[in-house]
Amino acid sequence: MKKFFITTAIDYANSKPHAGHAYEKVISDIIARYKRLTGYEVYFSTGTDEHSLNVAAKAKELGLDPKAFCDMMAVNFRDLCVLYNISITDFIQTTEPRHENSVTKLFGAIEKAGDIYKGHYEGWYCRSCEAFYTPAELTGDKMCPVHGIKADLIKEENYFIKLSKYTDKLQKMIESGEFKINPETRRNEVLSMLKQGFRDISVSRSGTGWGIKLPGTQDQTIYVWFDALINYITVAGFAADDARFGKMWPADLHMIGKDIIKFHCIIWPIMLMSAGLELPREVYAHGFLLNKGEKMSKTTGNVVDPVEMANKYGAEAIRYYFAAKVISGDDGEFNDEAIKLAFNTDLANDLGNLVSRSNNMVEKYCAGAAPELHAEAMDDKMKALEGLAKGLWAVYSAAMEKYDFSGALASVFNLTGAANKLIEDEAPWNLQKAGKIMELENVLNLLLETIRLASLALSPVMPVTAVKIWEKLGLGYKMETLNIENEMKYGFAWKGIKVSKGEALFPRIVEEKKEK
Ligand code: MSP
Repeated sequence: MKKFFITTAIDYANSKPHAGHAYEKVISDIIARYKRLTGYEVYFSTGTDEHSLNVAAKAKELGLDPKAFCDMMAVNFRDLCVLYNISITDFIQTTEPRHENSVTKLFGAIEKAGDIYKGHYEGWYCRSCEAFYTPAELTGDKMCPVHGIKADLIKEENYFIKLSKYTDKLQKMIESGEFKINPETRRNEVLSMLKQGFRDISVSRSGTGWGIKLPGTQDQTIYVWFDALINYITVAGFAADDARFGKMWPADLHMIGKDIIKFHCIIWPIMLMSAGLELPREVYAHGFLLNKGEKMSKTTGNVVDPVEMANKYGAEAIRYYFAAKVISGDDGEFNDEAIKLAFNTDLANDLGNLVSRSNNMVEKYCAGAAPELHAEAMDDKMKALEGLAKGLWAVYSAAMEKYDFSGALASVFNLTGAANKLIEDEAPWNLQKAGKIMELENVLNLLLETIRLASLALSPVMPVTAVKIWEKLGLGYKMETLNIENEMKYGFAWKGIKVSKGEALFPRIVEEKKEK
């Protein structure tokens, strides 16, 4: 079986999950599910980044031991995965012993390659980014360009990694496509960073008191980013299980946000090169979720709570929203009005209505037993819908392979829209009155076939909804064994299958009238 190893970034454990974290996990989950449904053995990891200074500071503020604080916070992120139905195969906390072993081993390999040296560092450090800035990069009065908080001037003796030794090689691997960075704009950004020249970075900090000890030193800890990036090989079994590592590594896809490409597309691949390990096949950098045009951030105070949103609209609806309405790679809106609109228009009206109307008619006109197709009674309108249905897989899968979820979903909703239109155009109730039974059966068969194909295509995005639809359609599909490419062939043998209308899939959200 072909394997696919996908990872998300690991989230800082100092605060609760925000909508951006949910977004990244959901789009990664859609890919993981799609890959599983197309025959891959999928490994899928996420987790928490726990050795940041903010974590230690927050624990101290609460009077808690930092590790106990991390374990408590990690629960929120694990719960988020359950709430959003994220099909992870591993959840890593960077304070776990397996990770410490892996960091120590990788550091040893880089040191052995002669790529670690001792030096003095003087620079401006943002404790929220956990990154150094040059004076030119700071804004105003020595403020961090990302967080708008004051950067600290840090002078310390620590250890550096010779990034510059590998930048030419890395550039060639990006240019040749051997190491893929998507979307194109991010690839160009990374190439221009490399062309401008990239300075060596320190891999340790001194006197922080929180983090993995740098082997062979007294007061040095591993720099939190150097530590965090290594999570990807820890999960694959580095330093724990060679056979597993041989099978899982390299990762096929690192899904991250666009703010952390420097770490994933320059520093991380060079760490691996130095240690003689293979590079991940691809890094995909998604955009940011915005709240009414502004980036969500703790500093602005406009962060949307993903738990509240899922409780309000259902995780399936939010998953749909992320996939359909946030264009992959771009920034996208995330607020109540936008979600309600997508819910009522796409899910309640287009999809939900199509399913309930169609199944209702099969119950009413065919006693709930699906009819067969009569080729001799197909008219042009029916043939047009049949053509669209036959072409769905090609359009849908081409978009999914590019992680273009909105494009993939547009092909599905184009088909359901056409099916709804066929109902209006053919008016099955009139066909029945006129005794045109073959035509009536054709319409109903085509509707069922449209819903079947659409539900298969929707299954990586809305797995719970897909199963509900399969139950209504009397289909025995099992997510674990399903191969969507095989099943999405047009022309299912419908005759006699028991169909039932059941409950509405997405009851419309009705606005509460405001009191005058
Ligand atoms: N801990 C580091 C990542 C280490 S990976 C080896 C980190 N953590 S984070 O909690 O700040 O962000 C985690 C992920 O969420 C990142 O990929 C980041 O880009 C993403 N997002 C943070 N804010 C976001 C939005 N407003 N919208 C979408 N994603 C965003 O960085």
